[in-house]
Amino acid sequence: MKNIAVVGAGTMGNGIAHVFAQHGFEVWLIDVSEEILEKALSTIRQNAIRQVNKQILTEEQMQAMMHRIHPVTQLATGIAQADLVIEAATEKFEIKQQLFQQIDKLASANAILASNTSSISITRLAASTRRPQQVIGMHFMNPVPVMQLVEIINGFHTEAHVTTTIVELSRQLGKTPCVVNDYPGFISNRILMPMINEAIYTLQQGVAGVEEIDTIMKLGMGHPMGPLQLADFIGLDVCLSILQVLQEGLGEPKYAPCPLLVKMVQAGCLGVKTGEGFYRYKNGPKEKEVNPIFHTHRTF
Ligand code: CAA
Repeated sequence: MKNIAVVGAGTMGNGIAHVFAQHGFEVWLIDVSEEILEKALSTIRQNAIRQVNKQILTEEQMQAMMHRIHPVTQLATGIAQADLVIEAATEKFEIKQQLFQQIDKLASANAILASNTSSISITRLAASTRRPQQVIGMHFMNPVPVMQLVEIINGFHTEAHVTTTIVELSRQLGKTPCVVNDYPGFISNRILMPMINEAIYTLQQGVAGVEEIDTIMKLGMGHPMGPLQLADFIGLDVCLSILQVLQEGLGEPKYAPCPLLVKMVQAGCLGVKTGEGFYRYKNGPKEKEVNPIFHTHRTF
């Protein structure tokens, strides 16, 4: 494997392009507009500068890495030479399905098609292609350059040699791969999202405030972020849609999204990306204060 195409240049897509380029792969980063691609390249550069400052990369390695990323707006151009195509587009089944159909037509016959989906069925995506045996889930965690895990999801038809190739590739990126089977939420989100949902229930019921809930989980359980801060970081809309996938796919009431989460998404409070969630943000995730709405001690 040498040539990688990443479809979607948002937070996950640019992080995935970053780690592949950092580890010597040629990367075609594909999105619909020049503006999105420019923003993605600027984010990658900023994150690479952090790595230079931390002496993870030299200045020369950073320059070489940036040269290995080729931004393109045409899907056909971007995936023509790809050995692996990783889809990291919006977390909506219809969008991903349409993309997989197009990618399947345009990619070389041997190319492996992967999705970075956090909960959509790999088997269902694979079924929209003519090569379901070469379709797999490659679920990176945010921030991609920092997080160690790649959750690898075998669809119903994924062939063993495809899984082995992706496991080996993840190791080449310095990551730790874990292989799981395709069930709603896989392992990561089937366990993470009920915890986040329960944290929101405790806030809704007035058991404790935002800071107390997060501090208990940070200091008591050794989590780097409390569940409410993590929900803001992931995006409350993303958390809601993953819980809906769990509820629908596993059919158990315990996965029902907390009404306060639903209400916040309806109010447009999506977390860091909109500047308001359980916290309010000024310049990105670092500068934050508890959202004043949660200081009023009213019942939500
Ligand atoms: N690129 C490169 N380096 C980065 C980075 C990025 N995007 N973001 C942070 N870093 C580096 C920093 O430079 C810093 O490096 P050193 O340790 O060498 O100093 C290190 O990461 C820690 O960053 P910060 O000092 O800025 O901040 P922090 O100590 O608060 O850590 C964090 C930030 C890494 C995000 C940490 O809070 C954390 O691990 N949070 C939990 C993240 C998590 O759970 N992610 C998974 C979310 S779920 C998901 O992604 C999948 C899904 O399906 C929903």
